[in-house]
Amino acid sequence: MRLILLGPPGAGKGTQARMLSELGNVPQVSSGDLLRTAVREKTAIGVQVASILERGDLVSDDIVVKLIDERLDASDARNGFILDGFPRSPSQAELLAAMLNRRGAGIDRVLAVMVPDEEIVKRISGRRTCPNCQAMYNVTFEPPKKPDVCDKCGGKLYQREDDAEETVRHRLEVYNANTRPLLDYYTRAGILTEVDGVGRPEEVEKRMVAALDGLVPQERKHK
Ligand code: AP5
Ligand code: MG
Repeated sequence: MRLILLGPPGAGKGTQARMLSELGNVPQVSSGDLLRTAVREKTAIGVQVASILERGDLVSDDIVVKLIDERLDASDARNGFILDGFPRSPSQAELLAAMLNRRGAGIDRVLAVMVPDEEIVKRISGRRTCPNCQAMYNVTFEPPKKPDVCDKCGGKLYQREDDAEETVRHRLEVYNANTRPLLDYYTRAGILTEVDGVGRPEEVEKRMVAALDGLVPQERKHK
């Protein structure tokens, strides 16, 4: 299964990508996670992009494409992947098509997670992330068992630097200007389905699975 998750910041792309990755046994490939890891590890790319991420602007296509291209070469991505946060503009969609063409593959489906702006601001301001295992929580909707401690690995949860309300509103503008046109782009390609992203994560997951129409199993083997 080769899947793209589209949607505004805070729509739940990461949350759903992780759930679907478990169901479909393919990795989540998140451009944001790859970039944040580079920033944390202070690699040459990380140093170059840190302030861009903090402002909520888009990193240049060549940098993101290089990271994604390398990630798709890993053995776990050979049989499929869930792209989260990439592509983010029509130019990146063209670059992705070329990247997959070289591998003799194509995208099976694009799911667009739809959530209203005000809900997004609420969700993002409560988000806490684990720097070790990337698990995600929300102080209101999905709190960790112990405040600021990851349930899964005990890591100290942090708040992303681009999650301040002003920056979130800027990220929404960037989404509307650059990424929203992809809804038409993939509708024209005949592979896009819009999914209502409002409701509990498990409810949204059910809608995603239904929209995937047999591409992933309906149930986890082990609950
Ligand atoms: P990126 O990391 O991709 O961020 P984003 O698109 O802004 O999306 P988020 O990660 O904020 O939200 P999400 O949709 O994953 O939601 P989540 O599941 O976390 O990009 C960050 C930056 O990197 C960009 O601004 C840019 O600078 C750069 N970048 C990345 N990709 C790039 C590219 N391709 N080109 C150029 N630059 C790029 O959920 C949010 C919160 O809500 C969480 O707390 C979660 O627990 C909660 N939640 C989730 N689902 C629900 C639900 N159903 N109900 C209630 N709460 C929920
Ligand atoms: Mg995310």
